[in-house]
Amino acid sequence: MVAKLLGLAFLYLTTSPFTFTAHGISVYPVPTAAVEINQNWEVVYRDANVYGVVGKAVILECGATVPDMYIWSFTKPGTEAIRAVVYNLGKGPVVQKLAETLGQLTIISNSAAVNIDKVPLAAHGLFTCQAFYDINQEPKVYYYYVHLIVRVPVTNPYLLMSDASPVEGSSMWMRCNLENGTEPIQYVWQHETRVGNVTVFARGSGNQINVTDINRNHTGWYRCVASNAVNSETSSRLWLDTIYGPDVPRIDVTPYSITERGYSALERETVSLMCQAQSNPASQYVWFYNNSQVYAGPQYTITKVLRMHTGDYACLAQNTYLNTRSKKTISLTVYYPPDGSPSCSVEPALNHTSLRLLCSWPGGFPSPSLHWTGDLIQAGRGQANAGQRTNPQTGSDILLAPESLSPVSSSFTCVGSHPALSRQTQCSTQTYLPPAEPVCFAYVTNTRQYLMLSCSWDGGAPKALVWWEGPAGQSQGGQENSNILVLRYGTARSGNPYTCYAKHPLLLQAKSCSLTLEAPVLLTQRSVVSVYEGSDVQLTCSQRSNYLPANEITWFNNQGVDVRDTSKYLLLRTSAWANLTVKEADEVQDSGEYRCSTSNAVGGAEINITLVVKKHPMPPNVTLVRVTYSSPKRSEVALEWQVESDADGGWTGFFLEHQWVSERPKKKEGSNGSLVQMEERAASQDWYRSVIQDPGVRSYTVRGLTPTVTYRFRVTPTNYRTVGHPSATKTPAEPRSNMYPAVIGAAIGGMLFAALLTVLLLVFIIRNRHDHPRLHDMLFGLQHSQSRENINFPEDEMVRGSEGGTEDIGGLSSSGPTISIPRASSPLSATPSPSSTPSQAPPPGDDNEPVSVTITVKSTG
Ligand SMILES: *[C@@H]1O[C@H](CO)[C@@H](O)[C@H](O)[C@H]1NC(C)=O
Ligand SMILES: *[C@@H]1O[C@H](CO)[C@@H](O)[C@H](O)[C@H]1NC(C)=O
Ligand SMILES: *[C@@H]1O[C@H](CO)[C@@H](O)[C@H](O)[C@H]1NC(C)=O
Ligand SMILES: *[C@@H]1O[C@H](CO)[C@@H](O)[C@H](O)[C@H]1NC(C)=O
Ligand SMILES: *[C@@H]1O[C@H](CO)[C@@H](O)[C@H](O)[C@H]1NC(C)=O
Ligand SMILES: *[C@@H]1O[C@H](CO)[C@@H](O)[C@H](O)[C@H]1NC(C)=O
Ligand SMILES: *[C@@H]1O[C@H](CO)[C@@H](O)[C@H](O)[C@H]1NC(C)=O
Repeated sequence: MVAKLLGLAFLYLTTSPFTFTAHGISVYPVPTAAVEINQNWEVVYRDANVYGVVGKAVILECGATVPDMYIWSFTKPGTEAIRAVVYNLGKGPVVQKLAETLGQLTIISNSAAVNIDKVPLAAHGLFTCQAFYDINQEPKVYYYYVHLIVRVPVTNPYLLMSDASPVEGSSMWMRCNLENGTEPIQYVWQHETRVGNVTVFARGSGNQINVTDINRNHTGWYRCVASNAVNSETSSRLWLDTIYGPDVPRIDVTPYSITERGYSALERETVSLMCQAQSNPASQYVWFYNNSQVYAGPQYTITKVLRMHTGDYACLAQNTYLNTRSKKTISLTVYYPPDGSPSCSVEPALNHTSLRLLCSWPGGFPSPSLHWTGDLIQAGRGQANAGQRTNPQTGSDILLAPESLSPVSSSFTCVGSHPALSRQTQCSTQTYLPPAEPVCFAYVTNTRQYLMLSCSWDGGAPKALVWWEGPAGQSQGGQENSNILVLRYGTARSGNPYTCYAKHPLLLQAKSCSLTLEAPVLLTQRSVVSVYEGSDVQLTCSQRSNYLPANEITWFNNQGVDVRDTSKYLLLRTSAWANLTVKEADEVQDSGEYRCSTSNAVGGAEINITLVVKKHPMPPNVTLVRVTYSSPKRSEVALEWQVESDADGGWTGFFLEHQWVSERPKKKEGSNGSLVQMEERAASQDWYRSVIQDPGVRSYTVRGLTPTVTYRFRVTPTNYRTVGHPSATKTPAEPRSNMYPAVIGAAIGGMLFAALLTVLLLVFIIRNRHDHPRLHDMLFGLQHSQSRENINFPEDEMVRGSEGGTEDIGGLSSSGPTISIPRASSPLSATPSPSSTPSQAPPPGDDNEPVSVTITVKSTG
C-alpha cells in the first residue's frame, strides 16, 4: 500500500535557495513554509537540493516534524529505479544493504533525517523521503525529494606551457591541468613580474589560453588558480622567459653635449660612450670607430680625447641566442681650440676713407667666436657694431668710418673665446696718424737715366695711401707709405708742381707736398776777377738755391778744359758751390775766360768768369847816386841810389848788377878812347846780379870784385815780378877822402828828419788804430810777407741763368776789380799826405774798406 502511495505520488518540485561556500560545507536548505496539503487525501510533494562534498558529512532532512512512518529511497542519476535505503514503519529504522554504497549512513535520532558521514561520489542522486503523518486520524503523506549533489573539490592544478622561452612575437599556450574537481571550474592565470607585481593575466572556464604575439612584458612567473563550487587551488609558478632583442641600442655620451652635428667633446676630456640595447639574453656589445672595431663591451671610454678621435662611433649589439644584431651610430666631434691667440690688424678700406679692423684666429674647431671691443664702443655708438661681421673661416671684421674715431689714436681689442678654452684671449691694435708731415724729394739715378720723385708719409697705422699728381699725365696711383714717381731724365716739366697726396683713413682730407722742378741758376761773386801775378786767386761759383736734384758744378779753365785738382788748380766743391783756386797766377798762362756749369733734369746753366792776371806796376826809376870803391884794394864797391818819387808803382826790391868793363894792365894808352873800346867790349858781357829784397835799402856794398878789373854798375827796381827800368850805369870813382864828412853829415840830417816824421805818423796811427786797423796791423802786427794779399774785392756778383744769359742780380760792376798796390813797410819816414800818391784809392762808398792812407816814401840822400 505504501508502494502504491508512493507510486501515485505526484511530485511537485520546488527549488529552494541555498548557499554555497568554497569549503565544501553544506548548508541545509531552509524548508519553505509547510504548505498544508489539501485535506482531500492528496500527497504533498516537497523538493529540495542538498549539496555535499565528497568525503564530508551531509544531512538529508525529511520534514520538520517526525513522521509516523517514512521511507528513504535513492534513485541513481540516469536511472529510473527507486531503491529503498532505509525505512521506519514505526518500529525503528531499518537500513537496507544499498545504504552501504552510499556512505556511512545513519538516522538521526528523533527525526527522519539521514546523516551521511563521508559522502561518496556514488551518493550523488535523488533521495526521496516518503513521510506519513497522522496515520491514525487523518493520514497525510509527504514526499520529500532531496537531490543530493555530491561535489568533488578541485585538486592542485599544474601549469603547462607550450614554450617556456618563446621568442617575442611568437605564440604559445598555457594550460592549467588538474585531476579532479567538479565542474564548473573557473581558471585564473596570474602573472607575477620580476619585481613581484601580481596581476591577473587571464581568466575563463577553459583550462588553456593561447597567447599570440608574445612580448617581453610577458616575461615573469605564471601560476593558475582553479576554482569550483567547493574550493580553489593554485598551481605552483612557472617562469616564462621571453626571448627578444636586441633593440636599437641607446648610446649615452658623458659628458653630454650635443650639437646639430652630433655629440661634441672638448679635447683632453675623458669621454665615455655607453651602449645599451634591450635584449634577452643580454646583448653583447662591440664598438666601432669609423667602421673598424675598437672595443668590445658596453662602455667605451676614451681618456683624454684628441681631435683625431673625431668621427663616427657605432655600437653593435648582438643577441647570441637569436643571432640577431642591431646597430646605432653617433658622430662625435672633438672640439679643440685654435693655437695661440687672435691676431689683430687694421687696414684701410673703401679707398682709404674708412678703416677695417681685422681679427683672425685660425684653426680650432669649431671656429672661435671673436668680437671687437674698445674705443669703437664709445665712438661708434652702435654703428660700429652694425658693421661687425663674423666670418667663420677667418675671423671678425669691422668697418669704421673716420667720423666715428679719434683722429689721433684709438685702441681696439678683439676678444676671442672658444668652448675648449676656459679663458678668453685677446689681441689689440691701434690706429694713429703718421707723426710727421709727408716728405717730398727728388733724386737722379747714377746713370742719369731717371729722375725719381719720392714722397713718403711713414709711421701711421694703418699705412697712408700716397700718390703723385703731376703735369701732363705724369701721375702715379696710390701706394702705401711711400711712392716714387719715376720720370725719364729730361722729361720732367720745369716750373710745374708735382704734388704728392697722402691720405690716411683717420683724416678726412688728404695731405700733400709739392715739388716744383727748376733749372739751376748759378751765381758768382764777381764775373771779372783781377789779380796780380804770382798770387793765388779763388773763383767762386754757387747755385742760387739747393736745386732738386742736385748736380755737380763743373769748372772749365781758360783753355776750355775740365778742371781737376792739379798743382795749378785747387778745386773745392759741395753740392751747392764749387770754388776754383788758380795757384800762382800767371799773366800769360792763366788770364782768360773760365767757365763753371751745371745742369739738372730740367735744364742747365753756365757762367763765364774772366780772370785778369795783372803784372804789378812799374816801379819808379832809380838813380845811382854814388858808386865808390870802399877799399883801396878795389875789391869792394859801395853803391848808393835813390828812387825817383814821381814814379807810378811801388817796389819790393832791387837788382844790383855789375858788368866787367876793362882790366887795368891793359890801360897803356891811358886815353879815354881805349876805355870806350873796352867798355864796348865789356858791354857784351853778362851782368852779375845781386838781389836785394828789402825795398828800404838804398845802399849796398858789392864785394869780391877783381881789383884789376873795372866794372860798371847799375840798379834796377823790382816790384814783385815786374822789373823796372835799370838806372844809368856808373863806374866807381876812385875813393876820395874829403868826401866822407859831407856824406855822413847829409846822412845824419836825413835821419833826424825821418825820425821826426815817424813820430808824427805813429801818434796818428795809435790814436786812430780802431778806425784804421789795417794800417795799425801793418805797422805793428803784420809781417811783410802777409801784406802780399793785395787783392781788393769789389762787392759784385755775377749771375748766370738757365737760358745761358747773364742776369745781374747783385749789381754787377762792369768796371774791373780795384787793385790796391802793396803797402810800403819800411823804417823810412812816411807821411799821411794825399798829395803825392803812389797807389790808387779803393772805390768810394764802402765803409768797410780800408781807409785810404797815402804813404809817401821819401828817401833822402
Ligand atoms: C579523484 O577521484 C577518484 C574517484 O573519486 C579517486 O579515486 C581519486 O583518488 C581522486 N584523486 C584525487 C587526487 O583526489
Ligand atoms: C588555442 O589554440 C588551440 C590550437 O590552435 C585551439 O584548439 C584552442 O581552441 C585555442 N583556445 C583558445 C582559448 O582560443
Ligand atoms: C611593456 O610594458 C611597458 C610598461 O607597461 C609598456 O610601456 C610597453 O609598451 C609594453 N611593451 C609591449 C611590447 O607591449
Ligand atoms: C673618421 O671619419 C671622420 C668623418 O668621416 C673623418 O673626419 C676622420 O678623419 C676619420 N678618422 C680616421 C682616423 O680615419
Ligand atoms: C680713390 O681715391 C682717389 C683719391 O681720392 C681717387 O682718385 C680714386 O679715383 C679713388 N678710387 C676709387 C676706386 O674710388
Ligand atoms: C767758396 O765760395 C763761396 C762763395 O761762393 C764761399 O761762401 C765759400 O766759403 C767758399 N769756400 C771755400 C772753401 O773757400
Ligand atoms: C825812367 O827811365 C826811363 C829810361 O831811362 C825813361 O824812359 C823814363 O821816361 C823815365 N821815367 C820817368 C818818370 O822819368
